[in-house]
Amino acid sequence: LSVKKELDKILTTAPSHESKHTEKDFEGFRKLFHRFLQEKGPSVDWGKIQRPPEDSIQPYEKIKARGLPDNISSVLNKLVVVKLNGGLGTSMGCKGPKSLIGVRNENTFLDLTVQQIEHLNKTYNTDVPLVLMNSFNTDEDTKKILQKYNHCRVKIYTFNQSRYPRINKESLLPVAKDVSYSGENTEAWYPPGHGDIYASFYNSGLLGTFIGEGKEYIFVSNIDNLGATVDLYILNHLMNPPNGKRCEFVMEVTNKTRADVKGGTLTQYEGKLRLVEIAQVPKAHVDEFKSVSKFKIFNTNNLWISLAAVKRLQEQNAIDMEIIVNPKTLDGGLNVIQLETAVGAAIKSFENSLGINVPRSRFLPVKTTSDLLLVMSNLYSLNAGSLTMSEKREFPTVPLVKLGSSFTKVQDYLRRFESIPDMLELDHLTVSGDVTFGKNVSLKGTVIIIANHGDRIDIPPGAVLENKIVSGNLRI
Ligand code: UTP
Repeated sequence: LSVKKELDKILTTAPSHESKHTEKDFEGFRKLFHRFLQEKGPSVDWGKIQRPPEDSIQPYEKIKARGLPDNISSVLNKLVVVKLNGGLGTSMGCKGPKSLIGVRNENTFLDLTVQQIEHLNKTYNTDVPLVLMNSFNTDEDTKKILQKYNHCRVKIYTFNQSRYPRINKESLLPVAKDVSYSGENTEAWYPPGHGDIYASFYNSGLLGTFIGEGKEYIFVSNIDNLGATVDLYILNHLMNPPNGKRCEFVMEVTNKTRADVKGGTLTQYEGKLRLVEIAQVPKAHVDEFKSVSKFKIFNTNNLWISLAAVKRLQEQNAIDMEIIVNPKTLDGGLNVIQLETAVGAAIKSFENSLGINVPRSRFLPVKTTSDLLLVMSNLYSLNAGSLTMSEKREFPTVPLVKLGSSFTKVQDYLRRFESIPDMLELDHLTVSGDVTFGKNVSLKGTVIIIANHGDRIDIPPGAVLENKIVSGNLRI
């Protein structure tokens, strides 16, 4: 009740053109907060989690083997591409939307996305639109940039996800005193995770518009996943299912490696496919959850969802996503919580959902500058906005790259490489401390470069490092 009172008070401070919108956001927040207060115990009962049945996760190769119909253009015209664009580039030391960070030959994530879809539209003579789900953090900067694509053959739409109030961990009351989100209120608000897409897309009116235009599916993915391109075989499988029964929800999953302990996995739970995240797993079962042998796959967050199903479930208030409680400490030291949801968690609310086990190449996220180094290098080639691994690499595996904290910020990282080294034969690279790379360096096998505190290592131009450890003034 006291939260409601506080929110009502905050609402009175909204300028009239914002009040309707803010009220909608608060309504959504109150529902989520109410559920949070009601919750007792864990959201899944470990004993009920089962391995998904054989046919509920199909290999991509099987989907691909069906080939493509002649009318693929009309199939494509039923599709809308949605990119999740609510996130900032903070973890890579950048201000502003993450999608505006340059990732390859000066192209940003957003540039590459637009190029991919434009290529598709030109090749198949289609009009697949691109929709960006922005947040209050990214909307303004993103919209400024969009003019740049006015002459591209891609119609671009945006909608805003909700803005929810952060809650004081002790008092469970909103931190904000008024609706503004600048000045001392900057940290008082947050975008509540990508699970917010269902309500926000619906409320924006765009969902209805697209249904009215005859669109049937959305392909949703993280804008920082460079592997998330439109796949015609999966789309065709959705539109022309072999058994005549359409899937309302497809989740692209891919095989786990030992490095992938974080992603959620698909399980069978109470007769339906369900995404289980590590945060939901009781401590005693975490190792079992992480094991590559029992739960072999993880969610790439590339999702194909029926527009009609989203509309139906949204109207029935039947989209059920577990609450993720995200604790944070604000700059001033105040402990807060923010309640979030994840888009893939809704899989259990849809009928006839399916997992497709896709090749690793469809999961190419750029979360750190180590990832950035890989995608900028000659390990990949760029073609109409898509990256593919170079044929010159002997094994189709990606090297393990660990750049130290002097490389965390994109600006520092760029300053430390005069040009991106040749990495075609690299297996493993670890760099730590104050290290710079000259032009045209070549890295092969396992290379470890460690500058101790106070030391600095400059790798000279043209150097070839093969199975080398370079440390301080000690060279082996
Ligand atoms: P993150 O960068 O937050 O996610 O966002 P992550 O750690 O890889 O993994 P999960 O999937 O959250 O576990 C992934 C994508 O979702 C967008 C980001 O912009 C990014 O493209 N996002 C995230 C939103 O659009 N809104 C949000 O509230 C959070």
